[in-house]
Amino acid sequence: MEADIDRILIPRQRIAGRVRELAREIARTYEADAADGLTLVTILSGSIIFLADLIRNLPLRMKIGLITVSSYAGATTETRGAEVLQDLNVDVSGRHVLLVDDILDTGGTLRLVRARLAEYGPKSIRTCVLLRKPAKAPPDVPAEFVGFDVEDVFVVGYGLDYNDHYRNFPDIGVLREELYAS
Ligand code: XMP
Repeated sequence: MEADIDRILIPRQRIAGRVRELAREIARTYEADAADGLTLVTILSGSIIFLADLIRNLPLRMKIGLITVSSYAGATTETRGAEVLQDLNVDVSGRHVLLVDDILDTGGTLRLVRARLAEYGPKSIRTCVLLRKPAKAPPDVPAEFVGFDVEDVFVVGYGLDYNDHYRNFPDIGVLREELYAS
């Protein structure tokens, strides 16, 4: 697996430190709202490791919701229009929702999910992403909490995949281009 990684972009210690900081920012924001109920909605599958680390640093009463969205078809790095594969599994009406995603790239995935969630009548929707590619992220898709802004390269590890591989790589790395360039 390591042989397929060109370089480490964000080592695991930096990720861990930033996740703790993000959790503090989020806890401060939702302190006053706690009584209304908070649901973290995570987008599968890329966010699983981020979510697991984030919530263990968040001393708030919360529920977890899951939604499955496909952005890529298999062995490709091109976003082809997001599609909901499995809808949200919890009721968020009247609750504060924090959407948790791995990366805000072209914004298609989060635009779709925010619109879907808005239909369910939550009290508020905010978004937390571990990574954002500022070169591409569109202005109509806000992210209130951002772990790291990264350059426009294809990254894997810490939950992020290429063709469902590399999710278990503990750092965030840049995949060797010859592995996906056609
Ligand atoms: P969009 O373009 O819709 O992308 O903002 C969001 C989803 O696409 C996946 N994605 C990536 N996955 N390395 C990955 O492993 C990347 O560089 C990358 N860019 C986008 C990811 O699942 C994200 O939720």
